[in-house]
Amino acid sequence: MRETLLSWLPEDLTGSTLIDAGCGTGVLAIEAAQRGAEVVAVDLSPTLVNLARERFRQLDQDLDVTFLVGDMREMDLGSFDYAVAMDSLIHYDVADGVQTLQAMAEQIQRKMVFTFAPKTPLLALMHATGRLFPRGDRAPSIEPVSPARLGRQLEDAGMMQAWKTGQSHRIDVGFYKSHAMELTRR
Ligand SMILES: C[S@@+](CC[C@H](N)C(=O)[O-])C[C@H]1O[C@@H](n2cnc3c(N)ncnc32)[C@H](O)[C@@H]1O
Repeated sequence: MRETLLSWLPEDLTGSTLIDAGCGTGVLAIEAAQRGAEVVAVDLSPTLVNLARERFRQLDQDLDVTFLVGDMREMDLGSFDYAVAMDSLIHYDVADGVQTLQAMAEQIQRKMVFTFAPKTPLLALMHATGRLFPRGDRAPSIEPVSPARLGRQLEDAGMMQAWKTGQSHRIDVGFYKSHAMELTRR
């Protein structure tokens, strides 16, 4: 998925700014920086951000990455050419996901690439079954979203006046199911 999202951005990112929203351990942020981008990478989890910083420090390369702890929905970090949100919206229901994209969009000048958990009949069944078990036994729940519904909600939120949808790609390998989309400024 990381390769897919990065392949939707220019090969040479020199002179571009990019925000990695929900960066986890920072792998994508570092790859984008290796392609020339000036990167800000943010995550809610201080533990993951510390891991990312440590991994980055050990690389000992002259790259421009700033790792920050925080909530991407609330931070005003200025303007960026690109935003990437890989698997960071998968726990949001469609309304929250769209709201998050809307908040991010205000800061993005060119393109946003992101993923969500695709709603397939099998996943919908697994999701419904999961609700029957106590929450303490499970990882944070994933919110499957149908691509068509997401498209309608983006439209209803008025986002499509300024943005157009582009490539779309689903990866379904073993337990990993994620759907990537891109939105480009008109
Ligand atoms: C499944 S992990 C993916 C991490 C990374 N993007 C990757 O693909 O390896 C989702 C990450 O999104 C982060 N996240 C979710 N909502 C967030 C928010 N509102 N602000 C910042 N980070 C967020 C979580 O803390 C978590 O580290």
